[in-house]
Amino acid sequence: MCGITAFRGPSAATHARVALARLEYRGYDSAGIAARRPDGTAMHVRTLDGVEALADAVESDTDATTAAIGHTRWATHGGVSERNAHPLEDCGGRLFVVHNGIVENAGALRDRLRSAGHRLATDVDTEVIVHLLEEAVSVGMDLGEALADTATHLVGSWAVVALDSRTGALAGTAHGSPLILADGGDGVYLASDVGAVAPFVSAFRVLEDDDVVDIDAAGAHWHRSGGSDRPRGLWPVPEVALLSRGGRHDDHMGNEIDEQPVVARRVLDALAPSIRDGALWNRLGLPPVEEIDRVAVLGCGTSLHAGRALAGVFARVGRIPTRALTASEAAHEVWEPRTLVVAMSQSGETADVLRALDGLPSGHGTVLALTNNTASSLARRADAVIDCLAGPEIGVAATKTFVAQVLTGACVALSGLSVSGRADAAVLDADLSALAATPDALSGALHAWRDRAADLAADLVTASGFLFLGRGAGLVYAAEGALKLKELSYRWAEHHAAGELKHGPLALVDAGTPVFVVDDGDPRLDVDIAEVEARGGRVIRVGERALRVGGLSLQLPRTGPSWGPLETVVPLQLFSRELALRLQRNVDKPRNLAKSVTVA
Ligand code: F6R
Repeated sequence: MCGITAFRGPSAATHARVALARLEYRGYDSAGIAARRPDGTAMHVRTLDGVEALADAVESDTDATTAAIGHTRWATHGGVSERNAHPLEDCGGRLFVVHNGIVENAGALRDRLRSAGHRLATDVDTEVIVHLLEEAVSVGMDLGEALADTATHLVGSWAVVALDSRTGALAGTAHGSPLILADGGDGVYLASDVGAVAPFVSAFRVLEDDDVVDIDAAGAHWHRSGGSDRPRGLWPVPEVALLSRGGRHDDHMGNEIDEQPVVARRVLDALAPSIRDGALWNRLGLPPVEEIDRVAVLGCGTSLHAGRALAGVFARVGRIPTRALTASEAAHEVWEPRTLVVAMSQSGETADVLRALDGLPSGHGTVLALTNNTASSLARRADAVIDCLAGPEIGVAATKTFVAQVLTGACVALSGLSVSGRADAAVLDADLSALAATPDALSGALHAWRDRAADLAADLVTASGFLFLGRGAGLVYAAEGALKLKELSYRWAEHHAAGELKHGPLALVDAGTPVFVVDDGDPRLDVDIAEVEARGGRVIRVGERALRVGGLSLQLPRTGPSWGPLETVVPLQLFSRELALRLQRNVDKPRNLAKSVTVA
């Protein structure tokens, strides 16, 4: 978590701030900028009021700055305060540092630095970096050398950018946390994510572990970890990174929920034509399905839920033994050869997922990354990569990336299975028809539930807890509904397999307890619902296929698709957002969370 930006060139502080505003989803506990003024003095502003609040300070300086670094923080070590906000400075107010990651040996380094006479003024692990840098600069190293030397003392993960306000030099290095470099024409950027600079550059380079880049008036100089000074390869800025972020709501989340049918259509336009003959699967360079004995899907949070839906496709269509694993627990797994590992992460930077891949034994099989960021750390370390094409998602709570991940994963799986001889032909055909119908199903759910979700939120605003139930392929959507509800509204929410209700959770049901039931067409849900209603619980059924004929309600049998009733996520997202808005929560920035979780 945390986002960092830097710019070397005219109006540097403004450039760094504008790019930083595009990274606020990475953390919003505090924000700050440090910059070099032409007279060699430093501008240093920090705030708890978000990146927006930096604008006045930067502009009142008439922005003649020539080099700047910026930071938006998700607190790990040290409370949320201006004192702990980045950029952090050395004793002399000359050197400034921004950091994303965790310095695991900060305690020992602090003791050593204190006994060497450094005055440490914050509770933040990053502070040791700026003081180590100060020591290295004081013995005559230039900023790039000093940063490389500093990194040799650190244990943990970092993307760091340092500013020397006296000379205007910038230097950046990375180890286990992302950092990119891009030429903006009028100056050079460093940033945690290409999304920060996508409108201002056409291509970018990614720092590999322990590379150091220093930037002075002559431009950027690369020092690769192996000793070479050749810059790393150039990546074009992906088109989807530039897609507009507008909509009719004031919050990003509302617009991103609305965008889901468009995203679904984009995914299907791009991928569906190459499902049938296995072209998509082959294009990714994946081994034939016959050479895969099992599938393991890895992820965290909402991406794990998308992974569970995808696991259903491999299992139901291909009858391949498949498991979905919480990435942070993957170290406890037993791995077998001929396993296809599908690593799901919209950001591609989730440390738990990257660590899980680091822990895979050699010879386990193939890793496919399914991500919204094809230049991410995850993409770079996988054998094959598929872009889920969701476009920029700014709201911290994942919505459209979930839908995009499920559909992209389903297209890939169906493509491999369609030429494998392993597929159940009837299920495959039904799935292909369901794919084509998905954008309309998502639109239908939006229209049917927009007002209903708002009314329901008004009714349930005082409810202190919520249950979400599902069976079979519907269960992951119940899980996703519960996750959305707790992260947005800060109310308790649990999901359960509906059949488990009578084994314990039913004790939670009292008069009026809200119980969302995701209907995947399993007739046993009627019994589960009856049990809840008998205790006075208030059942809200989503995904029902009831038809009214001549005043009678008929339940339509529902089968498939193998990834489950995807459109049921829409009412659950809408309800969570409406409830959160009523409770005056910030739906784009839920407390304590960040979008790119780069600490394990
Ligand atoms: C919930 C949410 C998180 C993320 C999780 C994984 O709305 O957004 O649960 O899904 O932190 O993030 P990625 O997909 O970036 O690996």
